[in-house]
Amino acid sequence: MLVSATEMLKKAVEGHYAVGQFNINNLEWTKAILLTAQENNSPVILGVSEGAGKYMTGYKTVSAMVNAMIEELNITVPVALHLDHGSYAGCYKCVKAGFSSIMFDGSHFPIEENVEKTTELVHVAHNLGLSIEAEVGSIGGEEDGVVGAGEIADPAECKRIAELGVDFLAAGIGNIHGKYPENWKGLDFDALAKIKELVGDLPLVLHGGTGIPEDMIKKAISLGVAKINVNTECQLYFQEATRKYIEEGKDLQGKGFDPRKLLAPGFEGIKTIVKEKMELFGSVGKA
Ligand code: 13P
Repeated sequence: MLVSATEMLKKAVEGHYAVGQFNINNLEWTKAILLTAQENNSPVILGVSEGAGKYMTGYKTVSAMVNAMIEELNITVPVALHLDHGSYAGCYKCVKAGFSSIMFDGSHFPIEENVEKTTELVHVAHNLGLSIEAEVGSIGGEEDGVVGAGEIADPAECKRIAELGVDFLAAGIGNIHGKYPENWKGLDFDALAKIKELVGDLPLVLHGGTGIPEDMIKKAISLGVAKINVNTECQLYFQEATRKYIEEGKDLQGKGFDPRKLLAPGFEGIKTIVKEKMELFGSVGKA
């Protein structure tokens, strides 16, 4: 059964670790992430961007697939199904489709509009037992058409949004979706510390988890980050393993063209990186 992410992230803050949000794209992604979570006795959050939701034919399909997979694979660790960078309309669609958690990304609106829409969606989510994430500042780079300038969140605005009753908060601290450029300045820990001081024990979310060095991840967790989003790195591991399979000509041998064989190395690649991240984030054994 799906659960909201509130409880698992509260425990993560108390236990000084983070829960991974891994974005899904299809059946292979979902199965790989769910099985890895179960094998490592770790809570997990499945992230669905609006683009990936559309790709999978709609949120209803996603919700039905994830629910059925949890049952058929006997997944007993806590799993949240979460809309990633949701628009106002997208949040309502996911609530209706049976998601257990939503993110409303109002970071591109003026703060008053972000406050107004977040307030409304907090009520909607909480009335139905869903968790809700909001965003202040912006995550740099691009993810599925969501483009951000990467401005550092204003701590006072974070406090304002936190007080609306959101369950966890994404604050831009120099993090970027996708690969980090050579000249990346790193995470702004001063900003993170100031935000933490003002929002207390509210779990903070670190987007753009791909490629952040281990020491920065650990420091971010020590400063209140309890949810870390990873998307691109699963895609890169999948791509690398699939490329190797084809370059070695394995698709040309016997029934190597069978999609279940062709996609198997990429599936294993996702499992490898998800396990590594769970170990790094400290969520192994915390289900
Ligand atoms: P990456 O693709 O950089 O890992 O970011 C994922 C993310 O933040 C999803 O919201």
